[in-house]
Amino acid sequence: MSDGAAVEMRGVTKAFRDVPVLCGVDLSVERGETFTILGGSGSGKSVCLKHMIGLLRPDRGQVLVAGREITGLSESALIDVRTHVSMVFQSAALFDSLTVFGNVAYPLREHRRWSEAQVEERVAECLAAVGLVGSEGLMPAELSGGMRKRVGVARGIALEPATILYDEPTTGLDPANQRRIGELIRSLQQRLRVTSIIVTHELELCFAISDRVALLKDGRIVACGSSGAMQHSEHPDVREFLAGEHATAETAAPAGAREIHGT
Ligand SMILES: Nc1ncnc2c1ncn2[C@@H]1O[C@H](COP(=O)(O)OP(=O)(O)O)[C@@H](O)[C@H]1O
Ligand SMILES: [Mg+2]
Repeated sequence: MSDGAAVEMRGVTKAFRDVPVLCGVDLSVERGETFTILGGSGSGKSVCLKHMIGLLRPDRGQVLVAGREITGLSESALIDVRTHVSMVFQSAALFDSLTVFGNVAYPLREHRRWSEAQVEERVAECLAAVGLVGSEGLMPAELSGGMRKRVGVARGIALEPATILYDEPTTGLDPANQRRIGELIRSLQQRLRVTSIIVTHELELCFAISDRVALLKDGRIVACGSSGAMQHSEHPDVREFLAGEHATAETAAPAGAREIHGT
């Protein structure tokens, strides 16, 4: 892929059955950056990410990946885009009938004409990167929530994408596993020089790992800046969002046994 920002959205609007969700989203994510989109539930964060891999097409506006406009591309051209930009879905979205190995090998078998030995080597590398060496033979049902998310990440990096999109990567995890996923995102960014775009409403994760942060509200990016600048921003929408999320985090039930710490 060529020059330009890793991902850019220009004036993107999107409505579902006449209900507007995105009302002119402008954002530009630099290469190698860790960029987080914050926003309330239902604000359109997942819809934004889906536009970045062409799973949704804008009603108006443009989406560019590495300087190339993807808005009008055919399905087959989008398959090529998706080898450069991969998405780790909110639910981890593993294939329940496949082992961990089968899940991570899946994109390799779809997109690479590799020998079985090459596939095995790459799967082992990806599982090592997420701290899951030796779990090849397990079925998704045998995994804790944190492990499932990590297998999702391993599958997401299998094709060595330039950009990884993470949809709510830590939602539903206990604090220890949340930190672990945060460290994983950061270390992949540093070791593989990938661009990471994260959507979350979890502030601790956001400010721990992001270079820049944007707030999505009422279908637009209403504020965007460095992690530190956003954390201390006087922007009323930012203050309101941060205060609301802090209150939610404090009243939430203790993590307790929501998840067994998996290895
Ligand atoms: N494929 C779709 N069809 C209809 N409505 C959708 C679709 N995808 C998302 N929406 C609606 O768009 C809004 C934003 O959704 P989403 O991006 O998933 O929010 P979030 O910020 O929580 O990720 C929601 O009201 C949702 O119901
Ligand atoms: Mg979502």
